[in-house]
Amino acid sequence: MKDFAHDPILMGIIGAGVMGRGVAQIAASAGIQVLLYDVNAVATSEAVQFINGMFDRAVEKGRMSGADAAMSKANIKTTSSLAGFADADLVIEAILEKLEVKQPLFKELEGIVSNDCVLATNTSSLSVTSVANAVNKQGRVAGCHFFNPVPLMKLVEVIGGTRTDPAILDQLCAFVSRIGHTPVLVADSPGFLVNHFGRGLNTEGLRVLYEKIAEPEVIDAVVRDCIGLRMGPFELMDLTALDVTYPVSEQIYEQFYHEPRLRPTPTLKQRYIAGLLGRKVGAGFYTYVDGNKVIPPEPAVPDVVPDRKFWVSKKVPALAAKLIALLRDAGMALDDHERPQSGSIAVITPLGLDATTATLREGLDPASTVAVDMLLNIDKRITLMGSPKTGPGIINATWSALAKSGRAVSVIKDSTGFIAQRIIANIINTACEIAQSGIATPQAIDTSARLGLGYPAGPLAMGDAIGPAIILEILRNMLDQTGDPRYRPSPWLRRRAELGLSLLHAE
Ligand SMILES: NC(=O)c1ccc[n+]([C@@H]2O[C@H](COP(=O)([O-])OP(=O)(O)OC[C@H]3O[C@@H](n4cnc5c(N)ncnc54)[C@H](O)[C@@H]3O)[C@@H](O)[C@H]2O)c1
Repeated sequence: MKDFAHDPILMGIIGAGVMGRGVAQIAASAGIQVLLYDVNAVATSEAVQFINGMFDRAVEKGRMSGADAAMSKANIKTTSSLAGFADADLVIEAILEKLEVKQPLFKELEGIVSNDCVLATNTSSLSVTSVANAVNKQGRVAGCHFFNPVPLMKLVEVIGGTRTDPAILDQLCAFVSRIGHTPVLVADSPGFLVNHFGRGLNTEGLRVLYEKIAEPEVIDAVVRDCIGLRMGPFELMDLTALDVTYPVSEQIYEQFYHEPRLRPTPTLKQRYIAGLLGRKVGAGFYTYVDGNKVIPPEPAVPDVVPDRKFWVSKKVPALAAKLIALLRDAGMALDDHERPQSGSIAVITPLGLDATTATLREGLDPASTVAVDMLLNIDKRITLMGSPKTGPGIINATWSALAKSGRAVSVIKDSTGFIAQRIIANIINTACEIAQSGIATPQAIDTSARLGLGYPAGPLAMGDAIGPAIILEILRNMLDQTGDPRYRPSPWLRRRAELGLSLLHAE
């Protein structure tokens, strides 16, 4: 068995499309001998031209020396038939995403390559175990899932099928590191790691929209400003396009036997059928003019003088303290009594509850009580909601008061867990369930979220920063209020929260 980290190796790539050419480019520039094959000879020669063009551009931009570019170009050879792979040490398949096309290819390949040759598939949605099932020596087949665009996306999921030999996974991880990417070991399961984990943001974002809590641009703004993700769920879905997101969401939900945590909403299907695919067709959750997203302006702050006093509930002391400091800074008068005095506006800071329940539980008057989300980052934006009984004058006065702090204010309909709380809790819970089911280690989950989805921190590290017990409380309250099992806490989260352990703590 060759040492893929150091030994000279010959790598075969089957399929010279978007992915095959990307893998060929980075492998060749890392000094690996590459043999490229495509059933369509034109695709092969176009791929070589494309890759050579990339090397030339890198030289022009000063990112590569002329000598390295020449070496990289010389490392890529082509073959006009599978027979060319007889001496390959590793073959990565990147052809059509169809099991009935991939399986015969692997079967034929097995009859050509040496006994030690490692076979990998770049499939993004098929079961690696099913692909491997086509060959006699299933132990040598694994998934090697690169992301698009390959040179920029540094993450590679190395996927073990049910019968994959662990030594093959070690070889593939060594290979991935050698070509400058980061491997994460993932068990063969629907959506693997990144596509599975990504459901946390999308499905809860869609759920918030479905419940008419807020418009897409408001949900996106809250996710960016309060959770700190680069993109909210709707701008992300517009970018990926619904003809990808919709089938992936359905497939993962179906393949996990209708796990409620992964359940999409009917909105997704309707929008897909309607052709609102996203940026590439100029219409999605946003409209696009000349390719630019049109973001509706923030609503104007109501022109009212907040002349009432604000009474802040101390039910969640840390959040109450933040809110009191903010209102003081904004120059608001505070009602310091034990209970709100007549004429005061009561402000509560619930966790995982809607304004209605939180108001009634605290024995407050729903007509003059509002809820503010103080849990996450409030440097740029604050989320405000009332119950269906809260008077518009009360909402507007609080809105105007909060806006005096210089922050944007998003006024939303009554929601169990506002927007940010419920979305971050679902992201973290999804990650915890992935850890619980052993699909990947906690460290691999966090690495994948950062490198595969551009999250500023991994979901488990984010959960630790907020406090696992708080995430558990949000989910328990949501489960209790909605009765929807999608909010049931993962045992991984519950145990660590109850024991005071980090979510990154493995057993
Ligand atoms: N495009 C992505 O964003 C992306 C990301 C991750 C994984 N993937 C996966 O990578 C694989 C390839 O995707 P792609 O986007 O590069 O596809 P692509 O359509 O760009 O290229 C596929 C290539 O495979 C060739 N091909 C088809 N059948 C073949 C066969 N039997 N033998 C040899 N060549 C054959 C085609 O001629 C084509 O050139 C798929 O399994 C896909 O799911 C794609």
